[in-house]
Amino acid sequence: MINETLGIIGGTGWLGGAIAKATLAKGLVPAGNLMISNRSGNHPLAQQGARLVTDNQDLVDRSDVVIIAVRPEHFASLGIDATGKTLISLMAGITVQSITAQTSASAVVRAMPNAAVEIGQSFTPWYCSGGVEATTKSLVQRLFECVGTAAEVQEEDFIDYLSALSGTGPAFPALLMTALANQATAAGIPGDIAQLAAKNVVINNSQLLASRDAQQMIDALVAYRGVTAAALLAMTEGHFEEQVARALQAGASVARKGLQA
Ligand SMILES: NC(=O)c1ccc[n+]([C@@H]2O[C@H](COP(=O)([O-])OP(=O)(O)OC[C@H]3O[C@@H](n4cnc5c(N)ncnc54)[C@H](OP(=O)(O)O)[C@@H]3O)[C@@H](O)[C@H]2O)c1
Repeated sequence: MINETLGIIGGTGWLGGAIAKATLAKGLVPAGNLMISNRSGNHPLAQQGARLVTDNQDLVDRSDVVIIAVRPEHFASLGIDATGKTLISLMAGITVQSITAQTSASAVVRAMPNAAVEIGQSFTPWYCSGGVEATTKSLVQRLFECVGTAAEVQEEDFIDYLSALSGTGPAFPALLMTALANQATAAGIPGDIAQLAAKNVVINNSQLLASRDAQQMIDALVAYRGVTAAALLAMTEGHFEEQVARALQAGASVARKGLQA
C-alpha cells in the first residue's frame, strides 16, 4: 500500500477506470487516497471508494501523483498547473516536453498500457524524464503491475514505437482471427465452424506460447514438413514479416508526429 494520494484525470474511462479499479482491488491505494475526475461527474467507481470530482485542478492540488488518462485531443483543454507534482501520462503521441511545457510538472512519466488492463493482463512500458526519484519509479512500476506486467524503457521514442505494438492491445490478434475466419468461410467452411476454429487458434493455442519460445515453436512445426509447415512457409514467402514491419512503422509514425489537437 502506498501513502501517496493518487489522482486520475479521466479516471472513469477505459484505461483510467480499469487502473483505478485495480489499484483499489489490489490494495495499492487506500480508498480515501484515490481521486478521479471526468467531465460528466458520474460513475459507479464513486461508490467503490474513489473520490470523483469534475475540477481537474482541484484533483491535481490534492494529489501527489497524477495519471492523465484523457484522450490526446482533450489534453490541451485541461489547463492544469502541476507545479511540484509527478504526472504519469497514458496519452499516445504527446511528448514529455509538451506535457512539461503545458503543465509545469516537476516530473513526467509516459506509460503505454493496453486494453488488457481490463483483465489485468496489460504490458505497460514506461519512460521517465530526468529527475524522477527512485521511490517514484518504484511506485510507477507497482501501479502498472496492478494491471499486468510493466517495464521501464530508457528512450522516449520506444514509447512511440511500442504504442503501435503492445499499445494496440487486441488489434493484431483481432485482425488475424478475422482473416482466418473470413478465409475459411470463403473456402466453404460453415461460418460458425470457421469462427470457432479461428478463435481457438488465436485465443486458446496462443496460450501455449506463455511458457514456450515462439521461434522454437515455429522451427519445430516447420521441421515436421507437413500441413503447418506449408501454411507457415506460404505466409513467410508472402512477406508476412515485412507487412508487420510496415504496420508497426505506420503506427509509430503517427505516434511520433503527435496526436494533440
Ligand atoms: N484504449 C486503449 O487501448 C489505449 C491504449 C494505449 C494508450 N491509450 C491512451 O489512454 C488514454 C485514454 O484512453 P481511453 O481509451 O481510456 O479513453 P476513454 O475511454 O475515452 O476515456 C477518457 C476519459 O477521459 C474523461 N475526460 C475527457 N475529457 C476530460 C476532461 N477535460 N477532464 C476530465 N476527464 C475528461 C472521459 O470522461 P467524460 O467524457 O465523462 O469527461 C473518460 O472518462 C488516451 O490518451 C489514449 O491515447 C489508450
